[in-house]
Amino acid sequence: MSEYILSIDQGTTSTRAILFDHSGSIVATGQLEHRQILPRAGWVEHDPMEIWDNTREVIGQALSKANVTRHDVKAIGITNQRETAVVWNRSTGAPIYNAIVWQDTRTQSIVDRLAAGDVDRYKSRVGLPLATYFAGTKIVWILENVDGAREAAEAGDLMFGTTDSWVLWNLTGGPDGGVHVTDVTNASRTLLMDLVTLDWDDEILSDFAIPRSMLPDIRSSSEIYGYASTHSLLREVPVAGILGDQQAATFGQAAFDKGQSKNTYGTGNFLIVNTGEQIIPSKNGLLTTVAYKLGDAQPRYALEGSIAVTGSLVQWLRDNLGIIHSADEVESLARSVPDNGGIYFVPAFSGLFAPYWRPDARGAIVGMTRFATKAHLARAAIEATAFQTQEVLEAVNHDMGENIVELKVDGGMIANELLMQFQADLIGVPVVRPRVAETTALGAAYAAGLAVKFWSDLDELRDKWQEKKRWVPSMEADERARRLRLWKKAVTRSFDWVD
Ligand code: G3P
Repeated sequence: MSEYILSIDQGTTSTRAILFDHSGSIVATGQLEHRQILPRAGWVEHDPMEIWDNTREVIGQALSKANVTRHDVKAIGITNQRETAVVWNRSTGAPIYNAIVWQDTRTQSIVDRLAAGDVDRYKSRVGLPLATYFAGTKIVWILENVDGAREAAEAGDLMFGTTDSWVLWNLTGGPDGGVHVTDVTNASRTLLMDLVTLDWDDEILSDFAIPRSMLPDIRSSSEIYGYASTHSLLREVPVAGILGDQQAATFGQAAFDKGQSKNTYGTGNFLIVNTGEQIIPSKNGLLTTVAYKLGDAQPRYALEGSIAVTGSLVQWLRDNLGIIHSADEVESLARSVPDNGGIYFVPAFSGLFAPYWRPDARGAIVGMTRFATKAHLARAAIEATAFQTQEVLEAVNHDMGENIVELKVDGGMIANELLMQFQADLIGVPVVRPRVAETTALGAAYAAGLAVKFWSDLDELRDKWQEKKRWVPSMEADERARRLRLWKKAVTRSFDWVD
């Protein structure tokens, strides 16, 4: 009888369930998108109940497509959009507010208040600057703005979770014995976890006025947390792996060792480099975060360059400008012109994340002339992803004190050949994609599979990684320097747009 690992990938735009076999190949996938709720400029919400309903549905889709039952599933892994905050009632299971998504910038005034002039005041402990991106300030907003939330939290009636915790708690029974835990990688995105102790930091909790009782227990990324409830299609199957989606992609790319890295092209881009057992503070605008922790073993840390808007810029061209009908049309439109026509597009829709961390920035399109067409705009949008990645890679090289020699990539946009070639040209090192591009789901499956001995160790997983394609740089150094100079100039034009 064949056995599988089921990975649940609760992402920003959709939730997927993917069944992997022992070779690490995909057997079946279920997928459903959820609504992006945009009540005001800068606000982004998801409906947690819709996410949970979709999770159940996609699990059913994957199992029925593969014609397997719970008896064939050895373990479940969960991976997720990381900083998105859900707060729900412990006894009813009802969320008290929509999930506030990582892209949401409504908490800027809370950030300013907590920072009191120093956004880096907690950085040496948590690895992060104070910014709207992280879950902690979103919890504060809910406690301060939802009627009765503060009192309920103080009374111990509320639970907080990133969407891994939300899915896990529901999957393991909800109000009826659900397990309330998260893993170290997700906890490292809240601003509330000490990177050394891997526990919630009481002083920060007190500054944020967040009661500890609403927080999940922090556990490793690979261990049995609990079992799917008797009401679920997967009843009694162990849930044995949790990794935030970018750390999961790093794990799925088998970047287990110090110096190994990956760059994921999704809604945003996230470049992670494994720093081994060392916690490296960034001097160049990167985040220090946890890469993974396997059971009782020492944690592995990472540096991360997070870029808020890359793939979502293509969606914006489609949904807000209507210049393409589907996201993959962007490549042919961009290829219909030989270059960007002098246009540079800085997509600072949520301010700028790494390496700038400028909440005051907003989107800027510069270099327009009457010659410009929608094709130039499409090309500039694609190039924006590569430019932003180049700047993050430069920061990684500086922080690490040595240069990355090739960039392993994954995520939806790597199907865009124009982007991948331009990326290699800009960074001057090869860009490499693996055979299994679904590295996020694969990483969570690996974490769960290791915990139940479906796979024996990291060496076995390392052997599974196979190269599928490589893009080699071909741009002249002078030309690269010219374009980077113009890009950096364009970035400065996006600053100071919010008072
Ligand atoms: O930090 C945000 C990240 O975890 C979201 O990833 O792939 O759901 O857009 P994705």
